[in-house]
Amino acid sequence: MHFKDICNQRYSVRSFLSKPVEQEKIDEILDMVKKAPTARNNQPYEILYAKTPAGIQKLTAGRDSFFGAPLVFVICSIDEKRWHNRQSGREFTLQDIGIIATTLMYAATEVGLGSVYVCAFDPIKTKEALHLEGLTPECLMVVGYPSDAAEPAPMHFDRRSVEDFAHEII
Ligand SMILES: Cc1cc2nc3c(=O)[nH]c(=O)nc-3n(C[C@H](O)[C@H](O)[C@H](O)COP(=O)(O)O)c2cc1C
Repeated sequence: MHFKDICNQRYSVRSFLSKPVEQEKIDEILDMVKKAPTARNNQPYEILYAKTPAGIQKLTAGRDSFFGAPLVFVICSIDEKRWHNRQSGREFTLQDIGIIATTLMYAATEVGLGSVYVCAFDPIKTKEALHLEGLTPECLMVVGYPSDAAEPAPMHFDRRSVEDFAHEII
C-alpha cells in the first residue's frame, strides 16, 4: 500500500473482532518498527505485547480488553537510555517513543489491521503487574481486525486546514 493510502485509510478503531492476529503479522509489524529513527539511534524502547486474555490483563493492569481487541502492545521507555543533549540539555525519549508508536500504528494499517493509540491507562499499575525493572510504560497500541461496527469517530474528521497549521517562512 502507498503511504498516502495508509494515511487516508487509518483511523482510530474502537471496535474489534475477537479473531486472533496471526504471529506473522505481528512479526511484520515489529520488523517495520525496528527501522524507525530515534535520536542518536539510541533505540530507547522495549515493546511488550500480549494476545491472550491473561497476557492482556497483565499489560493493561486489570482491564479485560480495550474495545475487544485481541492484541495489545505496550511501548516502554528504557530508563537507563534517557540522555540529555550536551548543547541544548534537551531529552528526546518521548519523541522517540512517539515515532515508534506511530510507526507501529501505520505498520498495522499496512498489514490490514486496525489500531488505536491509547494513553489512558495506569503506567504504574502496568509496571507493577509486570514487575518491570528499569522500564516505564509510555503508551499502548491496541490492535486487531476491525469489527463490522467499527467506524471513525466524528473527531477523526475534525482536521485543521494545511493553511491553518503550516506556514512558509521567507
Ligand atoms: C498520544 C495519543 C494518545 C491517545 N490516547 C487515547 C486514549 O487513551 N483512548 C482513545 O480512545 N484514543 C486515544 N487516542 C486516539 C485519538 O483520540 C485519535 O487519534 C484522535 O481523536 C484522531 O482520530 P483518528 O485517530 O481517528 O484520526 C490517542 C492518540 C494519541 C496520538
